[in-house]
Amino acid sequence: MLVRSSSTSSDAATQLVTSVHERRNRDFWDADADEYQAAHGAQLARGKVWGAWGIPETELGMLGNVAGLDVLEYGCGAGDWAIALEREGARVVALDQSRAQLRHATHNGVAAGTGVRLVCAAGESVPLRDASFDLVFCDHGAMSFCDPERSVPEIARLLRAGGRLVFNKATLIYYLCWNAAKRKQTRRLQTPYFDQRVFDFEEGTVDFQLPYGDWIRLFGTHGLVVDDLVELRPPVDTSTTYTDFVPYEWARNWPAEEIWSVRKP
Ligand SMILES: C[S@@+](CC[C@H](N)C(=O)[O-])C[C@H]1O[C@@H](n2cnc3c(N)ncnc32)[C@H](O)[C@@H]1O
Repeated sequence: MLVRSSSTSSDAATQLVTSVHERRNRDFWDADADEYQAAHGAQLARGKVWGAWGIPETELGMLGNVAGLDVLEYGCGAGDWAIALEREGARVVALDQSRAQLRHATHNGVAAGTGVRLVCAAGESVPLRDASFDLVFCDHGAMSFCDPERSVPEIARLLRAGGRLVFNKATLIYYLCWNAAKRKQTRRLQTPYFDQRVFDFEEGTVDFQLPYGDWIRLFGTHGLVVDDLVELRPPVDTSTTYTDFVPYEWARNWPAEEIWSVRKP
């Protein structure tokens, strides 16, 4: 989730990340984790709900039956998804580079009595073996904050043949309509479509986007094919704890979030 906050701090003890933007994002999440979980933990704890409006996986069916699969959650936060999938019979590894977020995941995992394996590592250099997962997924997780030129090959390496990558992120049009000066989501394009890969408003997180054709070609370069792209629309009369993400009316008219489903043949 794009979080518009100005809090920052650093944890010099953590030496797990390689790139400057990953360090920035790790510092952001370390500083913000407690406040974020206090604000959104109850909505996230419903488990297996996608995006700002918590649309149930049972309605979207993006992951399908996960029983018996080796699953990696790529930027797991407090691990709500990972815990829910483990309960359905998946063997889940939940990765995140923020120790503060992982503290919440540890607490939630213990409370739920599950055996989700937590890994503290940066998404652009994952310390796990090639071809060890059937499914890599995230909901506004590391795919939003990693450079796709690095995350996509890394995930292609981690997937087995026949494995899938499924991820939800904010849309490019959502960013293009953000008026940074007025700090406001608008109905007008504020930024050119082409050549805009990094969105860094010097507060909050550093986020990555690609034009749609570039995503498809990048997946293809690393042996991945796109099966589906589902643009999310908030249901009528719904509410969210992510009130600073995007106005409800905006998201009813334009897609603010999209779920990609990609396969390694
Ligand atoms: C919005 S949370 C996603 C978790 C959960 N689905 C949610 O919506 O709260 C984003 C998570 O991605 C993690 N993250 C961001 N960049 C990352 C990176 N490069 N490597 C690993 N995790 C990363 C953050 O630490 C944070 O916990």
